Amino acid sequence: MAAPPVSRGVPTRSARDAEAVPTVAVRRTGDLTEIELLLLWALVREAFGGELSQEDWAHAQGGLHVVLSEGDQLISHAAVVPRTMLAGGRPLSAGYIEAVATRPKWQKQGHGSAVMRAVGTIVMSDFEMGALSTGAHGFYSRLGWESWRGPTYVQSATGRTRTVEDDDSIMILRTVRTYDLATHTPLVCEWRSGDAW
Ligand SMILES: CC(C)(COP(=O)(O)OP(=O)(O)OC[C@H]1O[C@@H](n2cnc3c(N)ncnc32)[C@H](O)[C@@H]1OP(=O)(O)O)[C@@H](O)C(=O)NCCC(=O)NCCS
Repeated sequence: MAAPPVSRGVPTRSARDAEAVPTVAVRRTGDLTEIELLLLWALVREAFGGELSQEDWAHAQGGLHVVLSEGDQLISHAAVVPRTMLAGGRPLSAGYIEAVATRPKWQKQGHGSAVMRAVGTIVMSDFEMGALSTGAHGFYSRLGWESWRGPTYVQSATGRTRTVEDDDSIMILRTVRTYDLATHTPLVCEWRSGDAW
């Protein structure tokens, strides 16, 4: 499918046009109303079949939401949240991707890819690298994401702990500021409640 237009803010096209064309909008969590957040949570929960906890959804807040809609139908979503990581021994500002989801009846039509391409543009302009945790490496590798090969850790106030169970799930997106980062080196994220990655 052709890439939908991307706007940072509320779509400005007429309601008639919006019914016909998928539109990608980028919104800050803080600019969303409670109702808008609930509607996005409903979209994400439907896509994950109830697998995603409230805590996982909380991890998707505090940054940007990329939302693909058609008319008043919310179809696809991904969040980009700022995190600091230690990669190959140096600190990097990471755009961490959460809650990538397309409503089941709209899947396999390119909407998730369109959202992830918009996510890639945000990562390239606002962060030193992108990072995410997934079991669906093929979906992201088509879009330029690379599997991390090195050991993963979480850093808390009391020290650094290995997260062996996450070693095979982390992917990164390089930006011009990541350049020669080697993916077989240690990768450390900061602690948060719930799943570290
Ligand atoms: C993963 C997910 C977001 C993908 O969303 P999507 O809108 O279906 O994504 P796309 O349509 O862009 O791509 C999905 C697949 O459909 C294929 N596809 C894309 N456009 C297509 C089209 N017009 N016709 C047929 N297939 C198409 C893609 O090649 C891709 O194949 P792949 O699975 O082998 O990579 C969606 O399946 C989902 O919400 N899953 C449940 C939640 C989840 O697992 N999220 C990711 C966790 S990390």
